[in-house]
Amino acid sequence: MDFDRIHYGADYNPEHWPEDVWDEDVKLMAEAGVTLVSVGIFSWAQVEPRPGEFDFGWFDQVMDKLAAGGVSACLSTMTASPPPWLSHRHPEILPVRADGTRLSPGARQQFCPSSLVFREHAARLVEQVATRYAGHPALALWHVGNEYGCHIRACYCDESAADFRRWLKDRYGDIDALNRAWTTTFWSQRYDDWAEILPPRVAPTFPNPAQQLDFHRFSSDASLGSFLAEQEVLRRITPDVPLTTNFVGLVQKALDWNRWVPHEDVVSLDSYPDPYDPRSHVEVALAYDLVRSLKDGQSWMLLEQAPSAVNWRNRNSPKPPGAMRLGSWQAVAQGADAILFFQWRQSRGGAEKFHSAMVPHGGPETRGYRDVRSLGQELAALPRLAGTRVRADVALLHDWESWWGLELDSHPSGDLQQLDAHLAHYAPLFDAGITCDVVHPARDLSSYKLVVVPNLYLMGEAVAANLRAYVAAGGHLLVSFFSGIVDACDRAYLGGYPAPLRDLLGLRIDEFWPLPEDGETGLRFADGSQAAGTIWSEWIELEGAEAVADFEGGELDGRAAITRHTFGKGVAWYLGSRPDAAGMRALMDRVAADAGARPVLPGLPDGVQAIVRHGDGESFLFLLNHGTGEVTVPLPASAADLLTAPATPVDHITLGPRGVAVVSVD
Ligand code: GLA
Repeated sequence: MDFDRIHYGADYNPEHWPEDVWDEDVKLMAEAGVTLVSVGIFSWAQVEPRPGEFDFGWFDQVMDKLAAGGVSACLSTMTASPPPWLSHRHPEILPVRADGTRLSPGARQQFCPSSLVFREHAARLVEQVATRYAGHPALALWHVGNEYGCHIRACYCDESAADFRRWLKDRYGDIDALNRAWTTTFWSQRYDDWAEILPPRVAPTFPNPAQQLDFHRFSSDASLGSFLAEQEVLRRITPDVPLTTNFVGLVQKALDWNRWVPHEDVVSLDSYPDPYDPRSHVEVALAYDLVRSLKDGQSWMLLEQAPSAVNWRNRNSPKPPGAMRLGSWQAVAQGADAILFFQWRQSRGGAEKFHSAMVPHGGPETRGYRDVRSLGQELAALPRLAGTRVRADVALLHDWESWWGLELDSHPSGDLQQLDAHLAHYAPLFDAGITCDVVHPARDLSSYKLVVVPNLYLMGEAVAANLRAYVAAGGHLLVSFFSGIVDACDRAYLGGYPAPLRDLLGLRIDEFWPLPEDGETGLRFADGSQAAGTIWSEWIELEGAEAVADFEGGELDGRAAITRHTFGKGVAWYLGSRPDAAGMRALMDRVAADAGARPVLPGLPDGVQAIVRHGDGESFLFLLNHGTGEVTVPLPASAADLLTAPATPVDHITLGPRGVAVVSVD
């Protein structure tokens, strides 16, 4: 993908409209600065109205018009919603829920990820699409499927069961190994034959946790298999055309993105922050940092966001003036080189008619269109931002397998959820203006000054060794509770929690003491300051670490709650409870300062995000005011705001409500 500028555009669904609208579309796209549209995502039933009968004539016209108008196509493989004729002839492709309900057609994504009939029909269509449009001047990028795992996170049908057994045979080789991995001595679950194994369908009580964990892994791989079946066709026919698939944001955990990313040329994300939530930009910031880190900081694409309201929450607020622009610049600031929306023109009918679009029902004479047009002009004026890179001193560790493991049933506390844990640790860094990568725990961590582990319930020995080596060599590490508890098969490590990290942390957990619903415990720091601990407490025995804070009150009164341990040349902090937001901020400020991880700018006003994208000769400081009041940000050196007055250097920037500035810095 050629990122010689920040690309701008939307999903484009021309089949919703008569042909004369297509000309107006291309004209308005040019006016709005649109350079790239995702086209054809839901076109299968229109281009293959009957099995094996293809009608691409209308789509040729669309592609030609886009090319003539200077708009590139992120061309879809068109397989996201199989046509009714396919499930009518082959009802076995329809996905089945854990309770045995077979889902009906009539919405979208109605296919079992393991279905060979689906894959065969999809591959035949992709072959047609790729052959027809290979070399077309509009074709810039392939868009494979759409939001895999969005509606169908897993399928429990018989074909999936057979595929699961195949997957398990590959993983374990023989049935005894599987029995050991799944601890099937428990509750008389020993398998004598592969044929006895099923997906974890609805059972009288908790299904085997290791089976559930493997089914998560398998389900992600089954969707990946479906993606690869299409990807292989594209690689064969158009080896030089890059491809992507749009991940659903961190709202769900169906896919292990790390296993997908090696098969994509560029990573892309869909992001739908809730305008009612004044802190939603923090949650999306976490997702953007994660997506950017997946390919070591390469350009990524925001492939979908809403220009204003969505239609799928129970209550859907429009984005207030300035919010769409601010959210778009936030993605650019965090490394995106493409800003696209769902969708170009608001649908008249269908389930998404109340979802906003670049061209609303009211047409171009609307606030919505005027705002997207002016953002398009702004982005077009700064092509030199593209390809510059974000650098971070801090990494937060994230692993899908551990996320799946953490949120299995029958644990000490159902209150401990991965995204809450991430946000509790990420938000204080974000608020302090400290740039963060979000990376896999097995990767090389040596470039980071501070590594934060909000939770890694599941931790292989290799990851524990990685953390140990990182700290021994001088790194600073912060680990929160219920980390390093089980191995890859969800079997507890023996010898005192968290056994793989005990020497590194200099402590041993004797027993978990989760707090009751909405319960709190006191935390008293050595300097006399206090905070409330939430979610969790535990009985810690110190084995070399010093207590930084003790529990105050309750059964654990006076026992260590938060600790610091020198290990090799580095330092390992441990949190046996989750301090409230203010306590977490104070602690994180101290830990970051201790590690030498500095904010982008000191003394940032509340609500202002600051981040730098580094280029070869020129770097850019982005200042984003997520608040609704005016703020003034002093600059380290006199510079020009490229969005307003490129010629006039200033020594401070005043940002209005939801204001944005981009400043050129050395
Ligand atoms: C997802 C889908 C789109 C559309 C939007 C609506 O991102 O990929 O097709 O349904 O949601 O928000």
